[in-house]
Amino acid sequence: MTEAPPRGVTPPAASSDAAAATQDEINAEIAAIAATRTGDEPQPRLDYAPYRSSILRHPTKALHQADPELVELVAPVFGHQDVDALESNLTIQHRGEPLGERIVVTGRIIDGDGRPVANQLVEIWQANASGRYAHQRDQHPAPLDPNFTGTGRCLTGPDGSYRFTTIKPGPYPWRNHDNAWRPAHIHFSLFGTDFTQRMITQMYFPGDPLFAIDPIFQSIVDPKARERLIATYDHGVTVPETSTGYRWDIVLTGGHRTWTEPS
Ligand SMILES: [Fe+2]
Repeated sequence: MTEAPPRGVTPPAASSDAAAATQDEINAEIAAIAATRTGDEPQPRLDYAPYRSSILRHPTKALHQADPELVELVAPVFGHQDVDALESNLTIQHRGEPLGERIVVTGRIIDGDGRPVANQLVEIWQANASGRYAHQRDQHPAPLDPNFTGTGRCLTGPDGSYRFTTIKPGPYPWRNHDNAWRPAHIHFSLFGTDFTQRMITQMYFPGDPLFAIDPIFQSIVDPKARERLIATYDHGVTVPETSTGYRWDIVLTGGHRTWTEPS
């Protein structure tokens, strides 16, 4: 299991001026940029000023083409036999029961034509029910849960399906601006057959009141593209007496593809 990456964990503000911005000021910036949208725009604005640290760290050069065969000679590899079925259950990794709302998150990974993408390594990482990551960079004063690490993985089945049992993460503060809070989300990483084939994205929960004021979510200025990052509550996935259920499909290609970070 790879350690939970620090991506998305309380990134520092780009400057002291940025840290002083109020939520109202950020909202105004979000609205001004949204007004510039002229059509479908499924990918996020990478240089998105309301998301302060994107100003300094967004890509400014074209991606390098890597020789996939050469990369495979030196890159880490994983074998499908290395992924235990129990690793998809984030609620059984410790002696005790983690706190919070137990949920199932399931869906399919498909291409733009609806064909399943089988044997995909799906990794997730997330905050606990209190909105705290088990990561050294997250030091905000919400409690850690000794029974919850917040990382899991599985392989997609022949129909492209994945399934995790976990805890619904809480929203958490970050230092983008004054009183900045991220909507609850789960980070997803997908590996294809080669190490160069990695995609990273985030899944959100329906009805979150923080959507409208979150610069990361709003950096995808196309509302339809944002909607594709939000899971659906599915009572058919809900397990009696145990957990509520959410469904979220990931589309890798085509006009309805799920947003993923450029790799
Ligand atoms: Fe996060």
